[in-house]
Amino acid sequence: MKFGILTSGGDCAGLNAVIRAIGLYLLKNVNNAEIVGIPEGYAGLIRGESYPLTREDLEGLLTLGGTILRTRRTPFKRMTVPEEGGTRLSKMVANYKKMGLDCLFTLGGAGTHKTAALLSMEGCNVIGVPKTIDNDIYGTDVTFGFRTAVEVVTDAFDRIETTTRSHSRTMLVEVMGNKAGWLTLQSGIAAGAHMILIPEIPFNLDAVCDFVSSRIAAGETYTMIAVAEGAVLDSEARFKKEERVFVRPEQGEATVTRHLAEVIGARTGQETRYSVLGYLQRGGTPCAYDRLLCTRLGGYAAKLAAEGRFGVTAAVSGNNITFNALPDIAGKYKFVDPQGEEVALARSIGISFGDRA
Ligand code: F6P
Repeated sequence: MKFGILTSGGDCAGLNAVIRAIGLYLLKNVNNAEIVGIPEGYAGLIRGESYPLTREDLEGLLTLGGTILRTRRTPFKRMTVPEEGGTRLSKMVANYKKMGLDCLFTLGGAGTHKTAALLSMEGCNVIGVPKTIDNDIYGTDVTFGFRTAVEVVTDAFDRIETTTRSHSRTMLVEVMGNKAGWLTLQSGIAAGAHMILIPEIPFNLDAVCDFVSSRIAAGETYTMIAVAEGAVLDSEARFKKEERVFVRPEQGEATVTRHLAEVIGARTGQETRYSVLGYLQRGGTPCAYDRLLCTRLGGYAAKLAAEGRFGVTAAVSGNNITFNALPDIAGKYKFVDPQGEEVALARSIGISFGDRA
């Protein structure tokens, strides 16, 4: 049998570890298994490119960051249309057949799963594996790459806290996450942030400044704020991301962090700085939890393939690895519940979410 693997969307720690687990399982359990890598996600499939992955290629992948297959974050609908005619989808289906694949593993986030569902509807045998530092894929308790990112952000936050405390400042630490605030919420709690701003809970500018002022009035010398890149003011919550840049005071400003730092500094009188963590959140070796999770998810996905169970994606439910049907989860996101246990717990120990609650 011939198996293809592609990685799509923003990279994260653990992609290579999943490739390794899939490969090792297939080589051990499927007679004459042939494995090929498709470079640059769906773009490579549209172009019809693939190359063999041998046992030697899998060596050392457990701990290697990034993806040896390379990836693209271009949304599927914006990928280049094939010059020789046809649609992106028809080209992918044709190349799937031309390559002689019996199954395609798609390692990616919500967008990747949406495209995987389309391929599956066209008759391709597809199995997804849920990846993203955003942890926002519907139907799985956790995605691989998320825990590593939580560790990285928490460590960075700890370091920034020491300089913030030394200088008696207010500090905003911007964390990735445009639609979902999981990474900001969990690393914020783990690092002891005083305030956490996430897309799911629009914040009020007065409430944010009042909170910092009240800390200063109470004799607290510094304040640490974790801000998701997709955090929104309550006044702009009704706008989509693309529309938001036009309603922000500085035209074209992608995130609210710098603006917030200026306003907090001006209103509270406390020196205020911000730090954007950026791509270090996606890079590097997976933490032990992710190495284990990637090995479990990859091995499980390969087992599904060996059993001929397609049109699904691996998932985590409690302590178990399971699967979801692609049509059930495609196009859906998992968001932080503003009324949920984690937010309630955070509020109960005095963490502010910048709202009037
Ligand atoms: O989806 C993963 C992610 O890291 C998001 O958290 C972030 O908003 C986005 O990718 C950044 O993507 P890019 O690499 O295109 O800047």
